[in-house]
Amino acid sequence: MKHRPAILLNVFLDGRQRRKIGRLAAQGRRILFEYDPAFLATGLQISPFKLPTRSGVMIDDDLVFDGLFGVFNDSLPDGWGRLLLDRAVERLGIARQELTPLDRLAHVGQHGMGALSYEPDLSNSDRAPVVLELDAIARDAATVLKGEEGAVIEKLLKLNGASAGARPKVVAQVSADKKRIIHGPATLPDGYAHWMIKFPSAQDDAAAGATEYAYSLMARAAGVAMPETHLFTAKKKRYFGIKRFDRDADRRIHMHSLAGLLHADHRVSSLDYDALLKATQILTKDATEVERAFRLACFNVLARNRDDHAKNVSFLLDDATGQWTLAPAYDLTFSSGPGGEQSMTVMGEGREPNAGHLSALAKKHDLKHGAAIIAEVQAAVADWSKHADAAGLTKKAAKLIGDRIAPPVTKVAKLKAKSAPKTKAEPEAKGAATAKTTAKPGAKPRKGDR
Ligand SMILES: Nc1ncnc2c1ncn2[C@@H]1O[C@H](COP(=O)(O)OP(=O)(O)OP(=O)(O)O)[C@@H](O)[C@H]1O
Ligand SMILES: [Mg+2]
Repeated sequence: MKHRPAILLNVFLDGRQRRKIGRLAAQGRRILFEYDPAFLATGLQISPFKLPTRSGVMIDDDLVFDGLFGVFNDSLPDGWGRLLLDRAVERLGIARQELTPLDRLAHVGQHGMGALSYEPDLSNSDRAPVVLELDAIARDAATVLKGEEGAVIEKLLKLNGASAGARPKVVAQVSADKKRIIHGPATLPDGYAHWMIKFPSAQDDAAAGATEYAYSLMARAAGVAMPETHLFTAKKKRYFGIKRFDRDADRRIHMHSLAGLLHADHRVSSLDYDALLKATQILTKDATEVERAFRLACFNVLARNRDDHAKNVSFLLDDATGQWTLAPAYDLTFSSGPGGEQSMTVMGEGREPNAGHLSALAKKHDLKHGAAIIAEVQAAVADWSKHADAAGLTKKAAKLIGDRIAPPVTKVAKLKAKSAPKTKAEPEAKGAATAKTTAKPGAKPRKGDR
């Protein structure tokens, strides 16, 4: 890899057509941005809350993302991808602290998620297609997580495709029968689609992939819009994969996280689902989209996906019409949030949010189908053991989760008796082998136990 400091970057929206959006420039510690006049004329809004289109130079004054507007910060890998770039530049003798946000964007170049790209492009351009061997990638990722350096860093950096999130992952092209997994062709071969495949972090156990897959089945049964998901079975292990919704064949689709849209740092902020529903209403102006956001809230609360932070929800822009929609759901699994609480609170409740809080949220937003949505999600969650079976989880692993989210009737009675009067949150399932912990390698500590 090569590196040179980035002082000025051109930003593009590579959607149905390639459009220059504007320019980013470093001025001391400040970052300046200016929209291109031709882009202003399109009327498209890439980030309407924090970077609405207007002429002239703009500076982010709340500094949540080191001076970078949230829409550009969304292009930057955090967690795993950040750790890889840090290690790769250190191999060149450059300290990670020397890298500015603009330097990091130059390394994203044209290989980022969503539809934004950056020039000059320092992302590795020698991208001969390779066939991926998932067990080998998992092994390489584990060595990096253990702190061992080596040539694998650059290989993994390329495969990561500037994706965000704490877990090791690769972006890949997958054949329709899921048997062939490749990375790097300039254009998608016939019958292939863009996917993302995840590998366990140091905190995950071997069942993490199957658990996330079971959750994707349960979410779909609950009516949550999910991309296609698959449990890729290699020789040694099984890995969770999800079809990318920021690609339609090779066309790139602009994606913006809730964190980026609202300038809410997902590591420290604790948004409420009320804010998500409000943002969805203002952005999409569509009550159906608000109900989709509400259904996601119901799923995360009732299925105990407590790592539901502001980067785990995104929106997509149709660059032909300017219309925003809520992106399909992702990163749904049994997990704990800060201090074991729900990362995104429900009407102020983080400790033990329940159907009552969800109901109040639906009422506040005047949702037509609020009660029906809660009931549909409850029914899907009650079927947990069926989804766990379909994903091939062991009975023991399934039970650890089932006891928390869909306890058998006798267990419910016991829990009720035990918790009256209710004063404290239930502790997290001790030793829940498949629970997603929040201590993330390479990620900054979050609030509470993060
Ligand atoms: N199907 C998808 N299509 C497009 N982008 C996706 C998809 N799934 C995830 N992403 C993007 O990749 C990022 C990382 O994925 P994900 O959240 O599943 O990983 P993670 O490492 O488990 O994250 P976390 O740090 O929240 O635990 C997401 O924040 C989102 O931006
Ligand atoms: Mg995530």
